[in-house]
Amino acid sequence: MKLEDIKKIGVAGGGTMGSGIAQIFAQNGYDVVVTDIAEKYLDNTRRIILLNQKTLIEEGLLTEQEAEESLKHISYSTDKSVFSDADIIVEAIIEKMDIKQDYWKEVEGIARKDCIFATNTSGLSINKICAKIEHKERFIGMHWWNPPHIIPLIELVKADETTDETVQLLKKLVDRIGKESVVVLKDANGFIGNRIQFAVYREALKIVEEGIATVEDVDKAMKFGPGFRYPVLGPFETADLGGLDTFYYISSYLFNELSDEKKPTKLQQLLMDDGMLGVKSGRGWYDYSNGKGEEAMSRRDKNFFKMLKHIHKDKG
Ligand SMILES: NC(=O)c1ccc[n+]([C@@H]2O[C@H](COP(=O)([O-])OP(=O)(O)OC[C@H]3O[C@@H](n4cnc5c(N)ncnc54)[C@H](O)[C@@H]3O)[C@@H](O)[C@H]2O)c1
Repeated sequence: MKLEDIKKIGVAGGGTMGSGIAQIFAQNGYDVVVTDIAEKYLDNTRRIILLNQKTLIEEGLLTEQEAEESLKHISYSTDKSVFSDADIIVEAIIEKMDIKQDYWKEVEGIARKDCIFATNTSGLSINKICAKIEHKERFIGMHWWNPPHIIPLIELVKADETTDETVQLLKKLVDRIGKESVVVLKDANGFIGNRIQFAVYREALKIVEEGIATVEDVDKAMKFGPGFRYPVLGPFETADLGGLDTFYYISSYLFNELSDEKKPTKLQQLLMDDGMLGVKSGRGWYDYSNGKGEEAMSRRDKNFFKMLKHIHKDKG
């Protein structure tokens, strides 16, 4: 299949991720059909898409007309047979291995013989998800980041039998919808982004648990130090500019000091046991009671949009 042959995209599961994924494809002119297990979930999909579009319009990243036009490209169904003429199916259903495996087995029986199958799993093995299907060469991990209508990255994850042709086609598709792709060459847990994100979180926990610094100062150090660099330079570019000899010498005494914890830490367990789950429970590392959670989320979105506009401007 060529990029120009892709016209219709099936999105399975219209929750947090599926809604934004459907929205982005539709905004780029693709016909999209979203499926879910019941009408009430599809109502939720419609609601999320409208909400996402409202913020994009307010930020000047989408016009009312474009939003309206894109909505005409999205249809909804509780019946998987609507996938029978889809060119690509992107699955964003519940993160449970047995459910995803059975789901794909059934969908392979419905889909066209050349349809591309993509799963948006956060971290389950791509090889295992496609274990029950016959044509694994057309199966790939397509990991969008939340919120999918804002974050540019999509990780394309090769399973053992995924062909280069499938990878190349999806790379072109990601480019076509204005997102940024990276290819994960092996089916490795956490892909790229989450491996790095959780290495940082593990070290941040160690710094706090050993009394080296406070939670507030770890967050501040990240935002104004390494985090300030990261939108401009990746870790390897940073090392090149810093000098690989210097980075080698630092590694020779520092690696030995860094966390190599194999399980969630004691402090993480304590917070879990106390029901301190972050914004959703009103308290986590910080206090989110009395509307402070909503404030934190709206501040986050405003700052994300500022960065997104910068990227758009940079791309011309
Ligand atoms: N939320 C995130 O931050 C995030 C980020 C990246 C990837 N993911 C992954 O994306 C997938 C979806 O996550 P989400 O956060 O959108 O979940 P969600 O719970 O918000 O949405 C999942 C949707 O799938 C539907 N669903 C469940 N079983 C189904 C089935 N058999 N057929 C059709 N629809 C079905 C549910 O009704 C629900 O509407 C998961 O694999 C998750 O790990 C999530």
